Amino acid sequence: MSLFAKKSLQVLLGQAAESEKGLKRTLSAGSLVALGIGAIIGAGLFVRTAAAAAQNAGPSVTLGFVVAAIGCALAGLCYAELSSSIPIAGSAYTYSYATMGELIAWIIGWDLILEYAVGAATVGIAWSEYLNNLLVNVLHWKAIPYEWCHSPFEHNIDGVHGLINLPALFIVSALTLLLIKGTQESALVNGIIVVTKVAIVVLIIIIGWQFINPANHTPYIPPTGTYTDHQGISHNFGGIMGILGAAGVVFFAFIGFDAVSTAAQEAKNPKRDMPIGILGSLAVCTILYILFAHVLTGVASTDDFRTTGKEASVAYAINTYMQGYGWLGQLVTIAILAGFSSVILVMLLGQSRVFYSMSKDGLLPKTFSAIHPKYKTPHKASLFVLILVGLFAAFVPGDVVGDMSSIGTLFAFMLVCAAVIVLRKTNPELKREFKTPLVPLVPILGIIVCGAMIFGLGWTNWLRLIGWLALGFIVYFGYSKKNSIVQKTLRGEKTDND
Ligand code: ALA
Repeated sequence: MSLFAKKSLQVLLGQAAESEKGLKRTLSAGSLVALGIGAIIGAGLFVRTAAAAAQNAGPSVTLGFVVAAIGCALAGLCYAELSSSIPIAGSAYTYSYATMGELIAWIIGWDLILEYAVGAATVGIAWSEYLNNLLVNVLHWKAIPYEWCHSPFEHNIDGVHGLINLPALFIVSALTLLLIKGTQESALVNGIIVVTKVAIVVLIIIIGWQFINPANHTPYIPPTGTYTDHQGISHNFGGIMGILGAAGVVFFAFIGFDAVSTAAQEAKNPKRDMPIGILGSLAVCTILYILFAHVLTGVASTDDFRTTGKEASVAYAINTYMQGYGWLGQLVTIAILAGFSSVILVMLLGQSRVFYSMSKDGLLPKTFSAIHPKYKTPHKASLFVLILVGLFAAFVPGDVVGDMSSIGTLFAFMLVCAAVIVLRKTNPELKREFKTPLVPLVPILGIIVCGAMIFGLGWTNWLRLIGWLALGFIVYFGYSKKNSIVQKTLRGEKTDND
């Protein structure tokens, strides 16, 4: 069946060998962990944690982090096997093209748009919240008027409607231009940002611990019910469903750990270093996240996060409840603005790479793989990414893009877990530098835990995912299937590669 036509592993490995010539194996396990943490800690922790507490789980958002981490670890073990047996700089899209065929690869590639492009928009919107906090609480200037920093689908408690989120649009545009110019963050800048982010999180945990008000933690798991936010959207709140919903929301905080897998070609010793890089960065972040969420929900109440503390929640909690630590609130704001920028950069880069690969395979127009004559970057893919990310950042609320990004990535992870089982059957002889333990148990558990989080995210998000996939099928059957290089080869047509 041509829908499941596969890109041959030989071709892929040939491409890997080809591109490997330009890449040096310089990354140690430690630098892979740092790379992972740089891409992971961002809006998920500093914005979505409070949202999950407000809408789904109250203080038991910490248990949501545990569930999300288990799902990520299981999927991470599967990622590690794929990235070590197909060590091409790429992503789940590339792996699935070789293992499960074109249609599944398309679905994953289409889903990765939710992970990277919509994820970048989510962090851009979070950046906009903290920019306002910088203007008001650090620089003591005026806030940007509500209309100019919110989507038209949002209104505040006083009934003022948003028009466009200009700061979010600004930051994604500025970073796209940097990317086109090929200004990659140097390892040093990345290192400084990683250290700052981790230091801020640790400081908040240590200092904030003394300000925990036990009343805010009682009951730790709120009774099962629902919560309707001021936009009129109802959420599962409390009990198991609340924890699963919170897990789906804060899952966003872990997105990016798979970025480590894309560096397989640059790892010194992929067999040992990839699993350490992926699971190590996950482990560090999980511990920090649970402690941080415990402190945050203890310092401020669930009610705060539903009202005045809804935006820039961490700075709000510090400024309101941690007397004498105004400097920490200011430091956090500045560090967060820098930290978010690095996460956005990684996501924009990831998205333009995925578009580039899909265009090379003929699934997207050839123009996306055009390389800028001077800067040697896929500038057209980046500009297209900007239009997409810009539209989401400017016009869609942060809660909506955040959850869309979570659900799309979760779905892609389920397919990655399935890919490991399939590849073991279809290509048992393939040399695997790292083997996922206990196959098929680990991938099956990965599918179940990620599926449970999708379930917890509720029907509005399921409908959004189904709508997104339906749009993907229209593009696939309307364009990609006709133009795919693999399909053309099967049909005996000439391709540009001939
Ligand atoms: N994990 C990244 C963040 O939380 C995407 O911002």
